Amino acid sequence: MRVLLVACLVALVVPSGAAPAGADGLALTPPMGWNSWNRFGCDVSEKLMKETADALVATGMRDAGYQYLVIDDCWQVRRDDKGVIVADPERFPSGMKALADYVHGKGLRFGLYSDAGTGTCQKRPGSKDHEAIDARTYADWGVDYLKYDWCNAEGQDTRDSYARMGRALRESGRAIVFSICEWGSTRPWLWAQGIGQLWRATGDIQDCWDCGKSWGGMGVVHIIDLVADLHPYAGPGHWNDPDMLEVGNGGLSAAESRAHFSFWALLAAPLMAGNDLRTMSKETLDILTNREVIAVDQDPLGMQGRKVRDNGPQEVWMKPLGDGSRAVILFNRGTEPGDVAVPWEDVGLAPGEKALVRDLWRKADIGSFTGRFQAKVPPHDVVMVKVSPQP
Ligand code: GAL
Repeated sequence: MRVLLVACLVALVVPSGAAPAGADGLALTPPMGWNSWNRFGCDVSEKLMKETADALVATGMRDAGYQYLVIDDCWQVRRDDKGVIVADPERFPSGMKALADYVHGKGLRFGLYSDAGTGTCQKRPGSKDHEAIDARTYADWGVDYLKYDWCNAEGQDTRDSYARMGRALRESGRAIVFSICEWGSTRPWLWAQGIGQLWRATGDIQDCWDCGKSWGGMGVVHIIDLVADLHPYAGPGHWNDPDMLEVGNGGLSAAESRAHFSFWALLAAPLMAGNDLRTMSKETLDILTNREVIAVDQDPLGMQGRKVRDNGPQEVWMKPLGDGSRAVILFNRGTEPGDVAVPWEDVGLAPGEKALVRDLWRKADIGSFTGRFQAKVPPHDVVMVKVSPQP
């Protein structure tokens, strides 16, 4: 009876073509990995991917949690006479199966990119009307992750198009994370749960703090503001995706890079690095592998953090964690240093409660505080702390 009731409830809340989020065990915490687009655009190759796989291991990034190595647009050139998608033979001379084997041999997972329309954004073949054959091909090659874009899809219904590929992936027999990328255009947080495990919520991130492009590209702070109210829609197996990381690509200061990474963790965002891992500085690696900040992102409770105080340029953001503590960001988006305070009631603690405050970037306990905590925050920077109530 109880099983029947649950089944009926699931049927009521899960739209057709979808499975209950998390039921497949995929992406129970936000996916972590690396994607070629932000740094390399169309300049992808077998050599780059192998060297990046090697770097994920050698730098310790794999062991810090970065798992999925994803080739974005431009790996594909045409379809053969049976309709099977063909990888660029010059750039990927050993073929995708061999590359996936190499990546798996490093203890990593392998991802590809396609598009729901007739062509990708860079005019390579899209998957429209080839969903089943593409999903089978990916499964044969050993693909573990598919990013699925929305160019050249005029007249198509977003939900139907993504549901079709989501179903094809499930029917391929291989567990493939499905990353929906329609740039938030049809509010996927309202329909994509159970179709894919993550959905882009904004236009393309740019390697800048607050720039904006006429075609829709945007800087880090604009993205933070756009996803701020989407916290009710995130959870294990269904994540808002504020796009890939720009840490290490040169356009952000060290403080801005730290702020960018801190916010992605607080927002329970997928952490897909997008820089050249073969040549990155120690400063970049230290940001990308800060395990205490990564632990906030990967917290098993899976709650997306939210803004709890807005004092003009100074803000407080909070994410409840599974152990009863809270991750807190004191944010200064202004251009002058400022004092930012968090009163306990903003983060759900009683005013008289005592809590241990730990600085997640200095990796040190600051001390025990009652009622509130305050810190000086440099411009375009954060102080990120963990606040743990004490008995
Ligand atoms: C965009 C997408 C980017 C990247 C690019 C490739 O639509 O948002 O993340 O995948 O296409 O052409």
